[in-house]
Amino acid sequence: MNIALKVHSFRSTGFGLGPAGRFYVFCFCGWLMLLGLAADGKAVSDPAKIVGANACAECHKQEAEAWKGTHHFKTFSEMPRKAQAKQISEKMGLRRIKSESVCLNCHFTVRQKNSGQEVVSGISCESCHGAAQDWIKVHSGFSGKTAKTETKAEEAARWKLAESKGMIRRHSLYQLAANCYSCHVVPQESLVNKGGHKPGSAFDLVSWSQGEVRHNTWYSQGKENVAADAARKRMLYLVGLGVELETGLRAIGKATARKTYAFEMAQRVDRARKKLAAAAKAAPDVPEIAGMVELAHSAGLRLKNNQKLTAAADGVSKLLVSIAEKYDGSTMTGLDGLIPKPDKFKGTARKAGAVE
Ligand code: HEC
Ligand code: HEC
Ligand code: HEC
Ligand code: HEC
Repeated sequence: MNIALKVHSFRSTGFGLGPAGRFYVFCFCGWLMLLGLAADGKAVSDPAKIVGANACAECHKQEAEAWKGTHHFKTFSEMPRKAQAKQISEKMGLRRIKSESVCLNCHFTVRQKNSGQEVVSGISCESCHGAAQDWIKVHSGFSGKTAKTETKAEEAARWKLAESKGMIRRHSLYQLAANCYSCHVVPQESLVNKGGHKPGSAFDLVSWSQGEVRHNTWYSQGKENVAADAARKRMLYLVGLGVELETGLRAIGKATARKTYAFEMAQRVDRARKKLAAAAKAAPDVPEIAGMVELAHSAGLRLKNNQKLTAAADGVSKLLVSIAEKYDGSTMTGLDGLIPKPDKFKGTARKAGAVE
């Protein structure tokens, strides 16, 4: 992973949420500056830079087809109709779920339109791969040549440029995972305590990415929806747990009331650190895992402890960046026994096949 970003989600703070949707502030630390990264703030789904899934589907037909079979796609029309959605929005004092409400952050993709904004779909390609206006042409352009004539150096420069413009690729495990968890942990106190929204679920990156969400049909030329291999599964599992820990620690740090939210977040962190302790035993050649466990115990899981909890989360973040850079999962065979098996996958992956 060559872009190491520490991700703070404003989704978890309750301010900065406004009409502009799901904001990220990327905080560039000194050690990242050393890597020579431009320190411009970026938003994963900045509405001004959203092109919409239809633009992707022009080339990515199979991936788009797989997406249409997911809850991420269906939430657009289904969620607002649910009785539970009405209850939540009433308690939150919202009039319309699809306009300028806190729900936009996690359930929808919002695009800038003239002076206003429009909701264009559910959770879509750019919710995970980054708002694409600045990188869509770059990533697919083969440096102005063709797949055959582009040199290796040109290809590397093309991907680097696309990433610098906000593209989140397959190999950027930490960023991909941080994105999933920033929604799935539901790190918003008032939404949970006041609105009665579910404080996330038992998300784990292997089973939740390998079922209905899976769309690895591009590099197989549409022949197969390729499942993550054993080594990648280990990395998904490990990075996922670490990000869950990081997200949970930050969430407790910002909690203000001894209510459901703080309680659920503390339980989440406790579960994640127990699972990581088991992983540290199973993969002793990866000292960073034990490092994360130690950090997780360095700050009390209680209110009014934001400074320590945030410091612990920052430490976990650094370790995750180095895990994603240093390892490819091939040596961590000890983790295999801990990783959820296919019968636990969430939903069914679409079978590869031509799209009409
Ligand atoms: C004009 C055709 C075209 C469009 C439109 C397009 N892509 Fe691509 N995409 C490609 C090509 C070609 C590649 C593979 C490039 C290569 O092989 O080096 C690719 C690769 C990718 C990859 C894999 C990157 C990796 O890690 O290797 C992702 C993710 C992706 N595109 C996402 C998107 C998204 C999201 C959109 C819409 C915002 C989009 N693409 C629009 C042609 C396109
Ligand atoms: C921080 C992200 C986040 C925000 C903000 C958010 N949700 Fe959710 N919501 C989720 C996630 C994640 C799920 C899926 C829960 C799970 O993991 O099973 C969900 C599930 C739901 C469900 C159950 C869906 C179903 O199909 O059964 C409803 C209803 C819902 N949300 C309504 C709302 C409403 C209304 C708002 C705005 C007031 C809102 N949500 C804001 C993340 C969010
Ligand atoms: C929920 C998040 C999410 C959404 C939504 C999403 N992707 Fe992805 N995408 C991923 C992840 C994660 C991977 C890497 C998966 C892996 O390696 O197992 C990926 C991989 C890819 C790849 C590489 C496929 C291959 O053959 O290896 C392409 C191309 C791609 N996505 C395009 C898209 C397009 C186009 C859309 C919208 C139609 C989309 N993605 C929607 C998360 C997402
Ligand atoms: C922008 C917020 C957001 C992001 C990013 C996101 N999700 Fe989701 N996801 C949701 C919401 C909201 C739902 C529930 C939708 C509904 O049912 O109405 C959901 C539902 C799902 C479901 C279906 C769960 C079920 O009930 O069967 C899976 C699986 C899933 N997400 C996996 C992932 C994975 C894996 C990633 C990262 C690669 C990811 N999500 C990224 C918001 C998000």
